[in-house]
Amino acid sequence: EKAGHKHFMAKEIAEQPTVIAEALSYYLSADGNGIVLPDPGLDFTAYDRIVMVACGTAFYACYTAKYWFEQVARIPVEIDVASEFRYREPPVAPNTLAIFVSQSGETADTLAALRYMAGKAATILSVVNVAESSIARESDLALPIRAGVEVGVASTKAFSCQLTVLALLALEAALQRGEMTADSHAVRLAELRSLPGLLTRALDLDEWLNAVSNDLAESRDVLFLGRGMMYPLALEGALKLKEISYIHAEGYASGELKHGPIALIDSHTPVIVFAPHDTLFDKTVSNMQEVMARGGRVLLVSDRKGLALASDGVWQTVTMPEVPDLFAPILYAIPAQLIAYHTAVAKGTDVDQPRNLAKSVTVE
Ligand code: F6R
Repeated sequence: EKAGHKHFMAKEIAEQPTVIAEALSYYLSADGNGIVLPDPGLDFTAYDRIVMVACGTAFYACYTAKYWFEQVARIPVEIDVASEFRYREPPVAPNTLAIFVSQSGETADTLAALRYMAGKAATILSVVNVAESSIARESDLALPIRAGVEVGVASTKAFSCQLTVLALLALEAALQRGEMTADSHAVRLAELRSLPGLLTRALDLDEWLNAVSNDLAESRDVLFLGRGMMYPLALEGALKLKEISYIHAEGYASGELKHGPIALIDSHTPVIVFAPHDTLFDKTVSNMQEVMARGGRVLLVSDRKGLALASDGVWQTVTMPEVPDLFAPILYAIPAQLIAYHTAVAKGTDVDQPRNLAKSVTVE
């Protein structure tokens, strides 16, 4: 049932090229050039803003999607964790699209936040893995992520499929709102279709990431840094590492480091930097150099171009395939997950059933 893997988590990480291809083919028209949403569809010109609510890893998928919706579709997006949102009882402006993201579709806080928004938001949309779940049932439209059953408590393939569906939605919104030409829309869709191939190449780094993770297993604390869309991924990388390896980890926006957390840097604290060679690369690298100047040990995850420019003095490098800027978070989820996985295996923790955690959190 683990298809030759030692853990469900390893199997589910390895399945990502396949399930993402499946999610894409579910939503793309037969010629691959259009997005087809289930009935009744969505009219993105009817909304002035989006509110996205979820918990844990699903929340980090929302955080990433905020960058997409704002950058490509120019819609303002508010995000919050469900446990805060529900009791904050925020006022809801007219023409709000509310999006709830949940693998299980049964998370109590997310469901309560959805019920709070029912009758206040113009549309309740959910992005779920379990199509017959409470959250799906109570939505105006439920979009399945098509990840298949996820057994490992730590969410992996559900995260990347959530990202894939949210990326498609952002592109659809951009097209409908006239923020993107049909030509560049077609280019972006072709980029998405190239992702499964890139993910397969990233999975080839498994052995190297295993080697690197053996050193991480000795650490008491690990920091994850990223900028722009890599910032939510830094948060997700830290969550993944702490939940299965029990190593204390924090994700920070690279530029925020000098406002306090840089005090944590010493030679015992590995700093993992997600930095594809994108428009923010130089900024991230300068933050990384501040870390190294204080004796920090940096693991730089970048591509060939980025590493050629910035690998001087770093402790370890991971060479990722080049990826279109917009979709880098989906590809860089692979090293984030594999680092957590191999570190946990090196420590001998129960990877699929970490202590104190349940797969579906149906109580608040
Ligand atoms: C982390 C993880 C949790 C879930 C969270 C939400 O690996 O699995 O943080 O993402 O409990 O669960 P769902 O998506 O079922 O609402």
